Amino acid sequence: ITFCLVENNGTPENSERLVALKNIFAKQLPKMPKEYIVRLVFDRRHRAVALCRGNLVIGGICYRPYPSQRFAEIAFCAIMATEQVKGYGTRLMNHLKEQAKREGLRYFLTYADNYAIGYFRKQGFSKTLGMPRAQWMGYIKDYDGAHLMECYVHPTINYLD
Ligand code: ACO
Repeated sequence: ITFCLVENNGTPENSERLVALKNIFAKQLPKMPKEYIVRLVFDRRHRAVALCRGNLVIGGICYRPYPSQRFAEIAFCAIMATEQVKGYGTRLMNHLKEQAKREGLRYFLTYADNYAIGYFRKQGFSKTLGMPRAQWMGYIKDYDGAHLMECYVHPTINYLD
């Protein structure tokens, strides 16, 4: 199992990984319009941490950093159906937190649907926002039917310990 940062930088390897991620997100998040998933996954302001077994992508998290505001919004997070509940979702999030530290980010925000709230809680996310409103207002959109959740990323905690 490996974790890698994937950006849409035009390399064939990354393009293939982004296509695989897009397919996993589309399958695991059937309520999301496919065009919306495609647009964000390939958007150059978005990045992804992909979970791979050999050359096969089995899951990932797509996020958009807002460096000036020191937070990132998690757009999509999913693990292939056959690989769920094996701890991969947790490991993936821990790798993303380490990546956030390298990028100087202090918070994650995400809109979690009812089903995903339990998963995000276990990853340290809360519906109570500690970030000052002015730090994120106007940067991320409002969604109906999903709960905004936040996770603080401690700069000196090693999330992979
Ligand atoms: N509700 C409650 N607890 C959950 C849920 C859930 N929906 N999903 C996982 N957990 C728990 C597990 O039981 C486990 O608990 P434990 O540590 O006490 O054993 C813990 O969370 C972590 O489980 P993992 O095995 O690490 O999680 P997994 O690899 O299954 O990945 C994920 C979780 C990503 C949510 C996966 O189930 C998935 O892809 N689901 C479908 C897509 C989805 O709902 N994605 C999130 C949508 S919101 C968004 O993308 C912004």
